[in-house]
Amino acid sequence: MARIVVEIPGERAYDVVVSAGQIDRLGAEMRAFDGNQKALIVTDTEVAARYLDPAKASLKQVGYQVSVITVPAGESAKSVECASEIWHAMVECGLNRDSVVVALGGGVVGDLAGFTGSTFMRGLRIVQVPTTLLSMVDSSVGGKTAINLESGKNLVGTFCQPSLVCADVATLATLPEREWACGCGEIAKSAVIDSEDFFFWLYGHTDQLAAREPETVKEAVQRCIVFKASVVARDQEETKGVRECLNYGHTLAHAIETEAGYGVYSHGHAVAQGMRFASRLAVAHLGASMEFVQTQDALLDALGLPELQLKAEPERLLHLMKGDKKVRSGKLRFVLPRACGEWEVCELEDEFVLEYLQAWQRSIS
Ligand code: NAD
Ligand code: GLY
Repeated sequence: MARIVVEIPGERAYDVVVSAGQIDRLGAEMRAFDGNQKALIVTDTEVAARYLDPAKASLKQVGYQVSVITVPAGESAKSVECASEIWHAMVECGLNRDSVVVALGGGVVGDLAGFTGSTFMRGLRIVQVPTTLLSMVDSSVGGKTAINLESGKNLVGTFCQPSLVCADVATLATLPEREWACGCGEIAKSAVIDSEDFFFWLYGHTDQLAAREPETVKEAVQRCIVFKASVVARDQEETKGVRECLNYGHTLAHAIETEAGYGVYSHGHAVAQGMRFASRLAVAHLGASMEFVQTQDALLDALGLPELQLKAEPERLLHLMKGDKKVRSGKLRFVLPRACGEWEVCELEDEFVLEYLQAWQRSIS
């Protein structure tokens, strides 16, 4: 088992434990810091069918009184209505300030349980038990929680670090291919932003990752968590210009997802296209090398994230990007890589970005 400690100044440190079969040890891990009686597991229908029983058994074994609330699978659960149902369930279950909320599922459940748990009675302890690749490598660590409003994604949320993250990599065996690709996009993002070492390790293990070879999957998850923990430790609330690096590839990705319609392309696939795009901007703006761009392209191809064939008006994509939360004072902001492990947040002129959007669209036959 691997144990990574997330140390954030001014916050209590917490462990991220990664191993196969970790759900069976969830209760024992929680007892290391929590002596209380009541736990509420928040999960979704898909995950409940597979992993709720072992999670519940593990908590009961160490004496927890366990309640469960199951939400529909998918992004629609990150709603005000679902959050309200969970708050009411928390009252009905008799949760108090000493109770703990366990988020068992992907990033949707993690964000929703994190948000409701961090606001109920001004904040309960949260334990994240991620079951998707994306949630293991990204969303379960770092304390961002959110729900969506009709007017936009993740518009209401909190920063609330979990007390424990328990990643059972064995659960990934049942993850659909599309969700797997989602996680691979975020792994590629982390590798490029982190270091040459991570990038070339990943480059050398794409076949094993695609085959979900257990040791490779575990190492990829661990490397991403170590990277994310170091970023969050330096800039917990994204105010110091460090955590923004996690948005690499996301400026165009969000525009692609909106333009194509949510769910048409996986988030990971859209992020990969955003990385291809940003790296080309980086050649012109920061002097990144074409060799870096081509090696990154090859990595994304090998991860099963090929060039997207989305036909769209460049002006429309630009307009969508300007509506993004990352825009400040009307200027588009991109995380641009100079090379692996070297990046800058750059504010770019619309005309410059438009030129590259036009070039991308011309390249699609
Ligand atoms: P998800 O939570 O919707 O899970 C994807 C699908 O996989 C769901 O249908 C789920 O039921 C199913 N599933 C989960 N685990 C499974 C398993 N082991 N086997 C079979 N099926 C399984 O999607 P996601 O990609 O994990 O998360 C996306 C969400 O994460 C978005 O809402 C995004 O905004 C959020 N997010 C948050 C952060 C953060 O820092 N808080 C970071 C990135 C993304
Ligand atoms: N996934 C972006 C962040 O955690 O900041």
